[in-house]
Amino acid sequence: MNLEALLSARLAPALAEVAQAIVDPAVRRSQHADFQSGAVLPLARRLNRSPRDLAAEVVARADLAGIATADVSGPGFLNLTVADELIASALDDVTADARLGVAQTKEPRTVVVDYSAPNIAKELTVGHLRSTVIGDALARTLEWRGHDVVRANHVGDWGTAFGMLIEHLLDVGATGISQAGDLTAFYQAARAEFDGSEEFRTRARLRVVRLQAGDRETLALWRTLVAESQRYLLEAYERLGVTLTAADFAGESSYQGMLASVVDELDAKGLLVESDGALCVFPEGFTGRDGGPLPLIVRKSDGGFGYAATDLAALRHRVRDLGATRLLYVVGAPQRTHFRMVYAVAAEAGWLPEGVTAEHVAFGSILGTDGKMFRSRSGDSVKLSAVLDEAVARASALNPAPEIAAAVGTGAIKYADLAGDRMSDYVFDWDRMLALTGNTGPYLQYAYARIRSILDRAGQFRPAVRIGHPAERALALQLLAFEPAVESVAATLEPHRLAGYLYGLGSLFTAFYEQCPVLKAAEGVRESRLSLCLLTGRTLRRGLDLLGIATPAKL
Ligand code: ARG
Repeated sequence: MNLEALLSARLAPALAEVAQAIVDPAVRRSQHADFQSGAVLPLARRLNRSPRDLAAEVVARADLAGIATADVSGPGFLNLTVADELIASALDDVTADARLGVAQTKEPRTVVVDYSAPNIAKELTVGHLRSTVIGDALARTLEWRGHDVVRANHVGDWGTAFGMLIEHLLDVGATGISQAGDLTAFYQAARAEFDGSEEFRTRARLRVVRLQAGDRETLALWRTLVAESQRYLLEAYERLGVTLTAADFAGESSYQGMLASVVDELDAKGLLVESDGALCVFPEGFTGRDGGPLPLIVRKSDGGFGYAATDLAALRHRVRDLGATRLLYVVGAPQRTHFRMVYAVAAEAGWLPEGVTAEHVAFGSILGTDGKMFRSRSGDSVKLSAVLDEAVARASALNPAPEIAAAVGTGAIKYADLAGDRMSDYVFDWDRMLALTGNTGPYLQYAYARIRSILDRAGQFRPAVRIGHPAERALALQLLAFEPAVESVAATLEPHRLAGYLYGLGSLFTAFYEQCPVLKAAEGVRESRLSLCLLTGRTLRRGLDLLGIATPAKL
């Protein structure tokens, strides 16, 4: 159910008659009425007429019977007040709909969401938290809208660092990793050996050569490392409630076999330029600091392939082999130029045909309460597992039951990450994200649990809404706005729009519950208020689920 669409459909013919042209009614929610349309203002300028007169004419012609009343306000806005009966019957329809009034998209696309993508053999840090949490929320939301979503975990599982990691693995034995249980410790130990010993450095370099040459023993060792890391990552995803599975791992290594043909194709299109022994593409419109053209390096002078080449191969594969028409890259803002260049080169190569879009879904940094990059006391980047441990420990103060503390702790972290505009940096503040009031995960989980307890006490009832109290009306209108909220996330890739909607819903529910007794209300009113509780609970649960946040029945 989309009241905006319904009102627009009724206003459009009247506007068209008055304007003798098609006019977008631009119906929006408003603080001054249920909805408002400002469509008349630019129209009046164009027709050189008084906007208020024109608005009055539209009101007179519009067929709004049984739907809404309209009046002219201010300089010529149309204020629309929806009929209570329409609100009530629309809510009954939504209650009967398993999708809560959110239609499936009529234009499903195959969307690849590239997210999380940590570098193997390094522990996940909070730096990867944002990509993982935002990417998962987008994947869930797009999927629920009816798109065909392909999750791609473009893990860094290839490159020169593996020489040193494999040699270290040989030094400490396979059990060394699982004992470290902590991949950062393993990585750091390898790094220390590398920095401290010439003999080790030589071995590591030789090992890289053997890895790239496909030496069997070396590949087997590499696989051990990758498998260990995957196991560790899957555990972290499970704990975080992230939908990435083993099948979604498409690491950098998986594109190695495509790199030669990427080079060939770029060459055949005349795009490759040799520069200091490296093969480069100079896409149109990119200049470096010195003002000269900026290269995207496809093959390094030593013959090796880097990050850019792999991304080109992955892009071509996603479009050509997976049939994707929308590519999302959920990666931090510092990689902006990299992705712009990759897309530009891909476009020049013809790998982004008409109708296929590639978008960098960038995000800002996580800051500590001191306003600087979030770091541990020792100055290292913070380990995700340590953050989750602390979140759960702090959440146990609210409820010591382990599953509930886990849901509240991880939910608080995820919600804090999703609730703000993703491009902004945000401060990682335990007290704020775990607060039971304000725009937080626990606040919404608490609202949900309270509703569950009301419904448990209510027993059976037949859902049917009637609007009496203004607080019921406000809550009902918000419940009818779930579809536009979900739609806006799918369109803008900004999960904070859904978070903001849910917070609005929670707040209106709180106001309703304070002013309108539910269980003790008179017959008829009681059922109606229980219906509002039921639908609010279902909407909170579904909405939080789209953000990847669990809703325990009790808190
Ligand atoms: N592994 C990279 C990093 O940790 C992120 C990869 C993002 N995805 C991509 N297709 N480049 O920075």
